[in-house]
Amino acid sequence: MSNKSFYITTPIYYPSAKLHIGHAYCTTIADAVARYHRLAGDDVFFLTGSDEHGQKIQEKAEAAGIKPIEYTDKIVAEFQNLWKLLNISNDDFLRTTQPRHEKVVQEIFRRVYDKGDIYKGSYKGLYCTPCESFWTELQLDENGCCPDCGRPVKEVSEEAYFFKMSKYADRILKYIEENPDFIQPVSRRNEMINFIKQGLEDLCISRTSFDWGIPVPIDEKHVIYVWFDALTNYLTPIGFLDDPEKFKKFWPADIHLVGKEIVRFHSIIWPCILMALDLPLPKQIYGHGWLVVDGTKMSKSLGNVIDPIELIEKYGPDAIRYFLLREINLGQDGNFSELALVQRINSDLANDLGNLLHRTLNMVGKFQEGEVLAAKGSSEIDDSLIAEAMAAVKAFDDGMGTMKISDAIKAVWSFISRANKYIDETAPWTLAKDPDKKQELANVMYNLVEAMRIVSVLVSPFMPVTAGKIWQQLNLPEDFSEVRLDSVRKWGNTPVGIHIGKPEQLFPRIELAKEDVVQEPKKNTANKKNKSGDEADKNAGDNLITIDDFSKIKLQVVEITGVEPVPKADKLLKLTVDTGTEKRQVVSGIAQYYTADQLIGKKVILVMNLKPAKLRGVESQGMILAASKDDALEVVTVDMPIGSIVK
Ligand code: MSP
Repeated sequence: MSNKSFYITTPIYYPSAKLHIGHAYCTTIADAVARYHRLAGDDVFFLTGSDEHGQKIQEKAEAAGIKPIEYTDKIVAEFQNLWKLLNISNDDFLRTTQPRHEKVVQEIFRRVYDKGDIYKGSYKGLYCTPCESFWTELQLDENGCCPDCGRPVKEVSEEAYFFKMSKYADRILKYIEENPDFIQPVSRRNEMINFIKQGLEDLCISRTSFDWGIPVPIDEKHVIYVWFDALTNYLTPIGFLDDPEKFKKFWPADIHLVGKEIVRFHSIIWPCILMALDLPLPKQIYGHGWLVVDGTKMSKSLGNVIDPIELIEKYGPDAIRYFLLREINLGQDGNFSELALVQRINSDLANDLGNLLHRTLNMVGKFQEGEVLAAKGSSEIDDSLIAEAMAAVKAFDDGMGTMKISDAIKAVWSFISRANKYIDETAPWTLAKDPDKKQELANVMYNLVEAMRIVSVLVSPFMPVTAGKIWQQLNLPEDFSEVRLDSVRKWGNTPVGIHIGKPEQLFPRIELAKEDVVQEPKKNTANKKNKSGDEADKNAGDNLITIDDFSKIKLQVVEITGVEPVPKADKLLKLTVDTGTEKRQVVSGIAQYYTADQLIGKKVILVMNLKPAKLRGVESQGMILAASKDDALEVVTVDMPIGSIVK
């Protein structure tokens, strides 16, 4: 038992609309990680909650003719119901409207103000109400709208308090550079480094144009502007003001798990606030990818929102949890499809896992009247099963400890396949016919029950209900909630002489008719990124080019000799490349994947005869090639002299 403390958080969700399966994704990841750490013996604190202030909520409540708190009470109750249905094991649920939080936010404001890091100024800006974000002219999209959601912005000018974030820019940059694990995955880290290098402005932290917020303690006509109120939620429930022991134990947080679009707030603004408070920084900000439908982020206006409650009612919480955790690589975007979910249920859950349990229990029942007899001696096949069990425990442990959840699940499932194969290899039904093979049969039965015991422990962070059911059917004496990972680090902890329980099906196979699909995702024909290989091949047929067409494109090896950020464009970098005969300037959308150091000296392929174009006002003379899949991207590099022709 480790007895280490472990503090993990999800973002606090806006009660502006119903939660969809994308929100459930984030909370399920955090829950699996929290459950794993409890299993490993850590003292875990897992926090989630709701972010209830701001103009948007106030406007919605007004439109509904009710008070903002009545509005958020209702939606927050729905969140809590969803987390209950999904078996989310959070230790606390923080609402930013709770008095305990209001006290913390006001105290933090006071401390930072007394330090001289908050001042009064006036704010002029273009504000997007739905995103609660200010933008500058340059940051707007091509239609002059919010670059995040594409909706119109409005000009706002008002007296406001500002947090001196610029004062901490050098310190946070140095911290990120010196602590490679602080922001994960690495693509997010690079994006943040480039963002800070463009310069940090002071942050507007109060508003006077609405009153649904926590009052500024020194100036009651202002309310504290959302991010200053929201980020500080992580300090409230762990005793920041009222329980120094608890606070010492859980702060700094081990992981703030957040979606990729809010990594910036967590890895730049939040650390600067903590620096102003002289508090240590969280150990890690992990930015997960989005759950998308046909390559598009779920949104109410696109009509592609998938309701997790309907899915849970239809397939049960564990199948949904399993799918989300197994199917998507944590740092990358992943596609949700109900058909893929059903396939996973049928193959991994009903077939692999369900059958292994069913066969094991049936045979122990039939051949040994339900009794688990002692194993004596072992064959080579037994030894290989045992070795694979121990390897699976290790791979599970490594994967979960490093947020490679999908890899951890794959390791468990490869052991499940191994155990199913073990049944075929040992053919217990043949052993049962031979009175001389009684001990051999007892060994095989013991090993299968022991394998199932280990599997039930290993699947518990992902599928807590199923894990408990397996444990119950094996009729193991220990209280399952007390079982820890240590008990499966060694083979042979199943007690001899137990009588197994009644086999019950874990996951029935699902035959899915088209009309049964909860929501057939809308086809987004504009987005070809996620087309299957077959479909892409088919379409390619209509669009074939000749060799003459191809030869019009002049591709050549160039070396990157300079890299600079493009002001006010997080995603762009201005590269200087050496073509062998001249220097050219190329603007490339790779800022989130590379830092300057990683690019300088790389030999890449440039489209030489692309018509120059301006990106965010900066001329680009050509384009460098890159390969991308899902959320990953790499520039194409070659080991050939500068000036080589690519053909
Ligand atoms: N209230 C802020 C967070 C403040 S934390 C101090 C917020 N709320 S949110 O409700 O808009 O989003 C909460 C989280 O849900 C974000 O991490 C966001 O990335 C995540 N998701 C929203 N849609 C999602 C998907 N489609 N897929 C995965 N996660 C998604 O931002």
